[in-house]
Amino acid sequence: MTDVKPATILVFDSGVGGLTVFREIKVALPDAAYVYVADDAGFPYGDKLEAALIERILAVIGAAIAQHAPDLVVIACNTASTLALAHLRAKFSVPFVGTVPAIKPACAQSNARRVAVLGTRATVSLEYTRALIREFSAGCDVGLVGSSHLATYAEAELAGTPVADDAIKAEIAPCFIDAEGRRTDTVVLACTHYPLLTARFRSVAPWPVEWLDPAPAIARRVVDLIGPRPQSNGPVPARMIFTSGRAPKPALARTLAGFDF
Ligand code: DGL
Repeated sequence: MTDVKPATILVFDSGVGGLTVFREIKVALPDAAYVYVADDAGFPYGDKLEAALIERILAVIGAAIAQHAPDLVVIACNTASTLALAHLRAKFSVPFVGTVPAIKPACAQSNARRVAVLGTRATVSLEYTRALIREFSAGCDVGLVGSSHLATYAEAELAGTPVADDAIKAEIAPCFIDAEGRRTDTVVLACTHYPLLTARFRSVAPWPVEWLDPAPAIARRVVDLIGPRPQSNGPVPARMIFTSGRAPKPALARTLAGFDF
């Protein structure tokens, strides 16, 4: 084993949703040094005004880059990526990997040719997402479903205070369309918080669908960019930083270490 400095990867989200992306990257690159930044002081992003949010994201990530000098930044947040990725790339020279709605693979795999994109209200209303649909829907019917509450429900789920089934059912109901003899068969999880709720979604869905989580594809992209590295001295614990200044609760720290979610 040679003594090489591991790559530093900064993973960013408005809250704990980005952990669903982090866990995939960590499996693919166990020896990298991870800094997870949650802008919980700005959570939720999904209902914020665009200009102010872009400014906030640039400031928080700019400060994190200055402090941690990462080799790569993963924006593990669809809202921040669809809104600010172009601004981030223009402002900072470090490479960025974004998380954007997986519309192309969803449409490619949908047998019914009927897909729903479930994201924050911001993500589904942004031109970036609409352009992805124009470019990649390949003749599929793609419904956009914006949720104001699911990211907060996911935070509650991970904190051990899950919300009732009916609340979740109401948020996902518009995804399920049964028309012209074709029922929705694929739902794109276009917010990184939502994979924390997949088991809940399955249990309240009116019929089974494929819930598409882009995290494995993001991890593959990160591996491509970081490239093969000689082995370092083994895994180092990930650091988790909340912009509110709070420390992660012990349960969350264990979760982060063991991917128990
Ligand atoms: N996890 C985020 C996303 O992927 C945002 C949730 C929020 O802050 O509203 O969109």
